[in-house]
Amino acid sequence: MTSTYVHGYDPRENRRLQDQASTLVELLHWDTTYPEGSSVLEAGCGVGAQTVTLATNSPGALITSIDVSAASVVEAKKAVQAAGINNVTLRQADIFHLPFPPESFDHVFLCFVLEHLSQPVEALSALKYVVKPGGTITVIEGDHGSTYFHPDSDYARRAVHCQVELQARARGNALIGRALYPLLTKAGFGEIHVSPRMVYVDSSKPELVEGFTKKTFAAMIEGIRKPSLESGLMSEVDFDRGIADLYRTAEADGVFCYTFFKARAVKN
Ligand SMILES: C[S@@+](CC[C@H](N)C(=O)[O-])C[C@H]1O[C@@H](n2cnc3c(N)ncnc32)[C@H](O)[C@@H]1O
Repeated sequence: MTSTYVHGYDPRENRRLQDQASTLVELLHWDTTYPEGSSVLEAGCGVGAQTVTLATNSPGALITSIDVSAASVVEAKKAVQAAGINNVTLRQADIFHLPFPPESFDHVFLCFVLEHLSQPVEALSALKYVVKPGGTITVIEGDHGSTYFHPDSDYARRAVHCQVELQARARGNALIGRALYPLLTKAGFGEIHVSPRMVYVDSSKPELVEGFTKKTFAAMIEGIRKPSLESGLMSEVDFDRGIADLYRTAEADGVFCYTFFKARAVKN
């Protein structure tokens, strides 16, 4: 785990990442499939929340999933085993010191990783080094600046901004989704295509109200209560009101919107 990493491994975060992944499978992954026999590196697999979907959608691909956190790799192994998946190899490794020869993978996939890194272009360049010419990279990131909701609330917006600020102080970037095109360009990838994926939630979609608004987004902001208060970004009363207002958007007349960005590019 790098010092620039905000979310850190813990059981509650593990659960949140699993909830997030299962809610967003269709939206984020419907167009990610790799051919039979192709080799895929999943970088920053965490607790394996996306790994299971990747492997299920591409049963003939040989997937190598790595994470810098040994504890996360242990959890990912459990998730993969529980899903009965046998085309995934898991190992602890750092994106910045990859233990693979150059051009050893057909494709690279990473999801919700760049936002935590102080050197995203260097990470993309390191990953490019292990992709074969003509191979692809797929990157998925969120962008907290794309968050808006009804009823609107200054408290809720400020609580969300605490996450942006804390991540920036840890030298990450919670607004990175909008920057995928320039980052991939800087890292030297070609044929870059970015596809925004908007999550729109109202009470006609109870599974998204539960799985996204409450268990993914509001839970994430609730999870940074302690560091937000400790760093004086908001008062306790204001922060708690912000959290209450975020959950308020999950009620019958509430609406919640968020946009993820999915980029695919080619190593020429
Ligand atoms: C928010 S989690 C996302 C995990 C998973 N991709 C998902 O979508 O559920 C980010 C992951 O990136 C990993 N990570 C951070 N820096 C890394 C590095 N330098 N090399 C490999 N993994 C890294 C963290 O340990 C963490 O598990």
